[in-house]
Amino acid sequence: MPRRAVIAGNWKMHATVAETRALLRGLRARLAAESPDREIVVAPPYTALAAAAEELRGSAIDLAAQNVHWESSGAFTGEISAAMLLEAGCRWVIVGHSERRQRFGETDANVNRRARAALAAGLRPIVCIGETLGDREANRTIDVVRGQARAALLDLGAADIETLCIAYEPVWAIGTGRTATPDQAEEVHAEVRRIVAEMAGAQTANRLRILYGGSVKPDNIDSLMAEPDIDGALVGGASLDVESFARIVEFQS
Ligand code: PGA
Repeated sequence: MPRRAVIAGNWKMHATVAETRALLRGLRARLAAESPDREIVVAPPYTALAAAAEELRGSAIDLAAQNVHWESSGAFTGEISAAMLLEAGCRWVIVGHSERRQRFGETDANVNRRARAALAAGLRPIVCIGETLGDREANRTIDVVRGQARAALLDLGAADIETLCIAYEPVWAIGTGRTATPDQAEEVHAEVRRIVAEMAGAQTANRLRILYGGSVKPDNIDSLMAEPDIDGALVGGASLDVESFARIVEFQS
């Protein structure tokens, strides 16, 4: 069974409610109503989730949030729970994005807690990992990615690992216009699949979807998706424009 592709748009801190409605109406008008071989996901900011869910009703596009806390409620100012996201209409959630890790103190241990809480609530996590430029230049890419993947998936069962996606996003490629080459990305994706095979067995590793992220654009998506271990993309900047996101969704490989 081939793995079903996932194209996810990470809107980051962009889009008011009005902008969200306009963008999603544009996407719905532009994209086919159904796409059996690929899943489409968008992750607007929290304030726009409810409006986004309304706009996406009856469409093939799923809703994601950009983070989730591991507790179900309590004194955690600024955090949001999995149940709240489900109520808002989310089916997916991004965890461990490098911007959270680098700028907001996110740790490997907390990425794992967030992923476990999301899975327990029935949300599908998109778990982000990736090395910095310093790591790559010091030839530490594989070590860093192995460590992050192992920590993120700690104590997860095979069914959970098959439910989530891993997004490999080299930090030096995010928002820089500098994409990893298909070969560079494939090398890491294949390694992640090996780690998962060690942790959870070959069948689970074979079913896991591994997305690439970092300056994915209409002109590089096809060559990335042609790689055997690249199963989709997590798209930042190019997901904020209807035409470019639609072209990425319509990748050909
Ligand atoms: P980018 O962002 O496509 O703008 O590089 C990707 C991401 O941060 O998920």
